[in-house]
Amino acid sequence: MTVRRSVIVGSGGYLPERVVTNDELARRVDTSDEWIVERTGIRSRHIAAEGEFTSHLATAAARRALQNAGMATVDMIVVATATPDETFPATATRVQKALGIDGGAAFDVQAVCTGFIYGLSVADNAIRCGEADTALVIGAETFSRILDWDDRATCVLFGDGAGAVVLRAAEGVGTTADTGILAHKLHADGRQHDLLYADGGPSTTGTAGVVRMEGRKVFRHAVENLAGVVTETLAAAGLALADVDWLVPHQANIRILDGTAKKLGFPPDRVVITVDHHANTSAASVPLALAEAVADGRIRPGDVVLMEAMGGGFTWGACLARM
Ligand code: ACO
Repeated sequence: MTVRRSVIVGSGGYLPERVVTNDELARRVDTSDEWIVERTGIRSRHIAAEGEFTSHLATAAARRALQNAGMATVDMIVVATATPDETFPATATRVQKALGIDGGAAFDVQAVCTGFIYGLSVADNAIRCGEADTALVIGAETFSRILDWDDRATCVLFGDGAGAVVLRAAEGVGTTADTGILAHKLHADGRQHDLLYADGGPSTTGTAGVVRMEGRKVFRHAVENLAGVVTETLAAAGLALADVDWLVPHQANIRILDGTAKKLGFPPDRVVITVDHHANTSAASVPLALAEAVADGRIRPGDVVLMEAMGGGFTWGACLARM
């Protein structure tokens, strides 16, 4: 008997041209390169140009992922974003048009920094059920548009960007030796809303609002939740941490990355880190990190990759795949 799997057959990332350093931010708010590096590990971030929207970043990343996969079309496009171009329609439909793809489904998923993991899970389920044979899963954000640039506690943490993967259905033998997505787990806890949210929306203020966060409290939950969901996802697949070649975490803060790896007992040199030059790109951070490590040859065919993320809501989740 064979099992239908979703295989990651391509990946790609896109970052806006403009790089903003910590020193540049220090000219705007009362902060310093030293404080930001020590507390977060962030040295610089990319910021979208005027007129450059989430759909543009998403389309550029999707083009690279499709090219990497050697494909021109898919029958499902999922865009994970908390910063859509418009309230409606979904940014995914703009990406569909820009890519010249006719037919199939296109929709957005909103789980903030966990959005890409949620999107992968939805697309994988659709492929395994036979609803789609191919899918683009994109994480894309322009968080610079929802930052309070006078709030030093939040404006230094985020950047803009997009990352994408192409999934294609394949038949596996049903063991963890199969190439493709092996397991995923999703969580949410709406009681934690007040620790991390944007203070606006179409149905409340009529504006997009800006990021509000109680950083210290978010930090405390993050390591606990991420280590928990990693363990749970491995158990669902029947693999051990020692079987994982690369951890590709959401890039929120170097101390969260180090803390999670330490709590799990995972070797730090097997953790893909981009937070130093990307900052926190929310839903884009995991696919951007994945694309970077695939492109530079660290992640190779056959490697077991564990992706994890946590964000506002709270939401958190993990996805295990053999490349
Ligand atoms: N520059 C200089 N000083 C600052 C800055 C800044 N950019 N930001 C805050 N401070 C000050 C505060 O005002 C405070 O000053 P006070 O003691 O005089 O009141 C002091 O630094 C300490 O502030 P804390 O918020 O307690 O600092 P902390 O050590 O917790 O670091 C940080 C803040 C970096 C936000 C940390 O809590 C963190 O990383 N939390 C995780 C949040 C996160 O990553 N969120 C991203 C989204 S969620 C996710 O993706 C998982």
